[in-house]
Amino acid sequence: MRIAVCPGSFDPVTYGHVDIVTRAAALFDQVIVAVLVNDSKRSLFSVDERIEMLRQAATEMAAVEVKSFSGLLVDFCVEQQATTIVKGLRATGDFDYELQMAQMNASLARVETVLLPTNPQWSFVSSSLVKEVARFGGDVSGLVPSYVLDRLKHRLAE
Ligand code: PNS
Repeated sequence: MRIAVCPGSFDPVTYGHVDIVTRAAALFDQVIVAVLVNDSKRSLFSVDERIEMLRQAATEMAAVEVKSFSGLLVDFCVEQQATTIVKGLRATGDFDYELQMAQMNASLARVETVLLPTNPQWSFVSSSLVKEVARFGGDVSGLVPSYVLDRLKHRLAE
């Protein structure tokens, strides 16, 4: 069975993430969406909140599970018997860092990385920009699922 891991912070999940996970699920037998637990990075949503939103996004996807991980991504992949990391590549600006991480991960363990070109519809979308635009009252309703939008509005109003 071919298992892939889609890792990230997902703070919060966007339609760009949903697109990559959906396409990964069409390529692999099982996909594990892996939410990084990173106490040194300030996040808008807790890991549990991020997992809940991702599980909502994946309700229709039978072969997709959502889990959290801490430490090295390759250790999590080995633990989960995943052979491949799948990530989205939004633009050439992403490439240098993604290449470096892919090569580092391949040197640490026998884990390959597949970079999927992001659907151009979402190439400008990132969780950081969505949060910034939403914080200043901009309309991000087309960029995240409705339950994410509700939580965003609620959190930013607190
Ligand atoms: O959504 P992000 O924040 O861009 O995701 C980055 C992520 C989680 C893929 C990356 O930071 C990661 O893999 N972190 C785990 C620690 C690790 O393995 N670091 C070495 C990477 S070569």
